[in-house]
Amino acid sequence: MDLYEYQAKDLFAAHGVPVLPGKTVETAEDAKAAAAELGTAVVVKAQVKVGGRGKAGGVKLAETPDEAAEKATAILGLDIKGHTVHRVLVTTASDIAEEYYFSFLLDRSNRTFLAMASAEGGMEIEQLAVERPDALARIPIDAIVGVDKAKAVDILTQAKFPAVVIDDAADAVVKLWETFVSEDATLVEVNPLVRDPQDKIIALDGKVTLDDNAEFRHPDHAALVDQRTENALEAKAKAKGLNYVKLDDGQVGIIGNGAGLVMSTLDVVAYAGEKHGGVKPANFLDIGGGASA
Ligand SMILES: Nc1ncnc2c1ncn2[C@@H]1O[C@H](COP(=O)(O)OP(=O)(O)OP(=O)(O)O)[C@@H](O)[C@H]1O
Ligand SMILES: [Mg+2]
Repeated sequence: MDLYEYQAKDLFAAHGVPVLPGKTVETAEDAKAAAAELGTAVVVKAQVKVGGRGKAGGVKLAETPDEAAEKATAILGLDIKGHTVHRVLVTTASDIAEEYYFSFLLDRSNRTFLAMASAEGGMEIEQLAVERPDALARIPIDAIVGVDKAKAVDILTQAKFPAVVIDDAADAVVKLWETFVSEDATLVEVNPLVRDPQDKIIALDGKVTLDDNAEFRHPDHAALVDQRTENALEAKAKAKGLNYVKLDDGQVGIIGNGAGLVMSTLDVVAYAGEKHGGVKPANFLDIGGGASA
């Protein structure tokens, strides 16, 4: 399950990662009230589970509560890459000296965990990873050893973080690792991790993916599920113990006996569909390996 930014930051805060105060609201009036309560300039941020919100007009600075209402009006209802904005996060605006990138993730192809870090974070990170891959340090993490302060310092040094922030940033990195492990996440990403003018480190953005296979260990994670955007068909299938995933704009329904067979069938249908003007699978429905005729 992917989390919204505000949910990711709530988890960060619970594990001691520095974040800014904020409030999630659904109307312009509430955005105004939230900004007044914070008593500072604020940033109004679209809460959708897709990247590139800033470039799509979903992240806006507001100097006053009235302006926060204005910006919220502009952002609420916006369509960002097919995701409608129902909520915005109103959060303290920070002065930014520098933006960095940091993440922990499960590296399936190498069967390990990975730390990725760069002293050049911000909205262009995907481009940076392609154009100047050496500017993004990739460091495998031994799951048994984990990440202590010394390891965190090592990662940040390899990522060429400036010396003045390494100590503070390393504390944040250790806490991000604690978040990753204790919440059973497969991704914890902060972009940007910023240095403010007082050289303090703050997580200004947050992306977290939780491992659904570990759901049974985290009854509290059920509260993070967004009923509004969870697909109604998927919810219905889940209630019946079926493994159903709705896919984007396909035409062929796939029902199979076991996940492996369904996966293979999806590939075969998509491959064959190419000869018929791009016909694609419409869903993934696994009725379980033990189903009889
Ligand atoms: N609280 C804040 N104070 C000041 N500037 C901010 C704040 N939050 C975000 N920004 C600025 O806006 C930029 C984009 O914000 P953010 O990283 O949250 O969204 P994004 O990267 O566009 O979206 P996504 O994470 O979905 O890719 C940041 O790089 C930062 O420069
Ligand atoms: Mg970001």
